[in-house]
This record gives sequence, structure tokens and C-alpha cells, in this order.
Amino acid sequence: MSRIEIVGLSQQFKGHRAVDDVDLTVEDGDFVVLLGPSGCGKTTLLRMIAGLLDPTSGRIRIDGKDVTHLPAKKRNLAMVFQSYALYPHLSVEKNLAFPLNVLKMSQEKKRQRVHEAATALGLEDLLQRKPRELSGGQRQRVAVGRALVREPGAYLMDEPLSNLDARLRTNTRQELTELHDRLAATFVYVTHDQVEAMTMATKIVVLNAGRVEQIGTPQQIYDAPASVFVAGFVGSPPMNLVDGELSAHDGFVQADAIGTTARLWPGSCERHPATIGFRAEHLRIADAATGGLRVDGLVHQVENLGSEQIVYVKVGELMVVATCGREVPVVRGERFVAGVAAKNLHLFDRATGRRMEWVEDPIPLLAGA
Ligand SMILES: Nc1ncnc2c1ncn2[C@@H]1O[C@H](COP(=O)(O)OP(=O)(O)OP(=O)(O)O)[C@@H](O)[C@H]1O
Ligand SMILES: [Mg+2]
Repeated sequence: MSRIEIVGLSQQFKGHRAVDDVDLTVEDGDFVVLLGPSGCGKTTLLRMIAGLLDPTSGRIRIDGKDVTHLPAKKRNLAMVFQSYALYPHLSVEKNLAFPLNVLKMSQEKKRQRVHEAATALGLEDLLQRKPRELSGGQRQRVAVGRALVREPGAYLMDEPLSNLDARLRTNTRQELTELHDRLAATFVYVTHDQVEAMTMATKIVVLNAGRVEQIGTPQQIYDAPASVFVAGFVGSPPMNLVDGELSAHDGFVQADAIGTTARLWPGSCERHPATIGFRAEHLRIADAATGGLRVDGLVHQVENLGSEQIVYVKVGELMVVATCGREVPVVRGERFVAGVAAKNLHLFDRATGRRMEWVEDPIPLLAGA
């Protein structure tokens, strides 16, 4: 399968940069997910890789060969679009087989490929229907199936599961993951669904307004978001982000925020405005007195998710979100006190929004920030 290199790729629409100087290497066998809010340039980037849109500047190489201006059909890529275009006059079976028509392959082999794709996507009983006789989710699965019958250099998919209900989405997600493992296929997959990104990706690319915010494994993106944007975008409920200040006292670097002080590590630093982040699951009642950040407020709202509860805590003017087990008695309007251990705090430079690295030794904290 293919390796795709993207260097300095940009797309300008009437003075507006939809994709802005993107560098990205998709290794052979990678499952790369392009993740970001609506309008951040995901589809535009994918269409340039596919060869459906000519870049304003930058290069694209597939397996070392420059394909920047090569037509789509010569790139050997299979694409599933956000709006799945099926041939309306052909049955599901013929739609699935269509990409195979140009290949030299026995009828028997073609039938087998179509059968495998149909089984993987639960379409066996629909093979004789026309697209207009299918639901939106079924049509979407046919569109995915049509990409799967081929053996391209890479699969490019643009929100292929967006019309499926929760159960089908989970099943199809598993099918795609299995397929990726089985074929060691290269995928570039667009979504704004975090669960899809976290569960399927070997590498996530977080995009914001056409630019790359961070590239990393799902774990890296979740555990060490490179910016306030990534911290606020990835994770549900989103990370708590509060204004704070770093300073040094008694040989310790400390963070002041929401009316309390967290001792971070031995050392010194200049006073510095910071954005301090902490995840809802790291807010623990047992950690209220451990020297981390203390949250002391009133329960504003409780959401019961069955397995756990999400607690919205009003601290002065701020709202802080915590998750805790169902066994914890939480009552609306009552006081809620919990803490976040210092190691679970994320520090961002307030001016740039970039992550400040956690430094345990007494060396200047703000070097590189
Ligand atoms: N053909 C076009 N002409 C002008 N502007 C365009 C064109 N295509 C996209 N854009 C703009 O470029 C930006 C990126 O669009 P794009 O479709 O890549 O976003 P996206 O991340 O795929 O969003 P979504 O999640 O909503 O599908 C948007 O501001 C969009 O309005
Ligand atoms: Mg899109």
C-alpha cells in the first residue's frame, strides 16, 4: 500500500486560505484521521490528495512520485465522499461491482469481492435493490463498499459514517478497523467525530482554520494536547480551561487559578499568565487536599449517564465540569469540593495558546514557551 507525503500544501479560495501550509506524512499502513470543526479544511485537503482539486501551492508525493498535478484516476486511490454518489439506475450489486469493471479479473473473482464487501457491511439482503429504495445509512454503506471492492494504494474517506445510527456506526467502525488490520491498508479518513478518531486512528491530525494544530497518536493528542484549541476540542466533556498565573514561592513553581494555588515542582520562574487545563475525570474528591488545584463551588447541574455522572460546578463566575461515580452523593445547590493532582494539570501559554512542557527540574520553566 501507499505512503503519502504532503509538503507545504495550501488551497486558496478567493483570498481565503481553506488549507494553509500543511505538512503531513501518511506512512504505509497508517490510519490517519483528519479531525477538526466544520469548515476547518478537512474535505479540501482530502480532495487535493485525491486529485479532485488543484493545490494553490505545495507538493503531494505518493510512494516517492510527485503526483501534485496528476489526474485523480492515475493516483490509484479509492475515495468515499461526504455526499455518497451512487449510480441511481444500477442495483446495489452493480454499484458495488462498478469499480471492478475496468480491471482484468474473472467474473467469479468479481462476484467474490462484491460478496465480501456486502457481508462486511451487512448489505447481503439488499443487493438487488436500487439506491432510491435504500435508507440514507444503507446508501452510505454501499458507497463505502464500493471503495472496499478495490485494492487501491490508499482509501480516502470523508465522513463515511455520518448518516448511520449509533449501532450501525459502531459496527461499521469495527469493520473498518478490522479491514485496516487485515489489509495493512493506508487510510486517510475525515471526521469530526472524536470517538471515530480515537478508536480507529493510528495518527490524528487536528486541523484548525486550515492549519495543523497537532499530529500525534490518539493517546498523545488526549494526554498532551499541544494547544488550548486541541485541549478544548478533543475529549468529552471538554477539558476545563481556566485563566491562571504561574509564579515561584519558597523554591516552588506554583499555579494560581480559581482562587486556589497548586504547587507544581521545585524551581523558579518569572510571573507568567497561563491557561490551566484539567480533565473532568481528574477532578477527584479524594484529591481535594493534596496540594494540587482545589475546586470549591456549588453543584449547578448533574447529568446521570447511567455508568457515571457529570457534575457542573459553579466556582464564582466559572463553570467547572467533573465526572464521578454514581455512588458519590451529589446534590444540586450543595457544596462540591474536589482537587486535581498537580501532575494532571496542563499548562498553556496564555498569549500563544501553546502547551508549556512539564519540567520537573529546577530549570527555567518558560524556556521555549
Ligand atoms: N469551492 C469552494 N469555493 C470557495 N470556498 C470553499 C470551497 N470549498 C470549500 N470552501 C471553504 O473552505 C473552507 C473549508 O471547507 P471544507 O469543506 O474543506 O471544510 P470541512 O472541514 O470539510 O467542513 P465540514 O466538517 O463542514 O465538512 C470553508 O470555509 C468553506 O466554506
Ligand atoms: Mg467536509
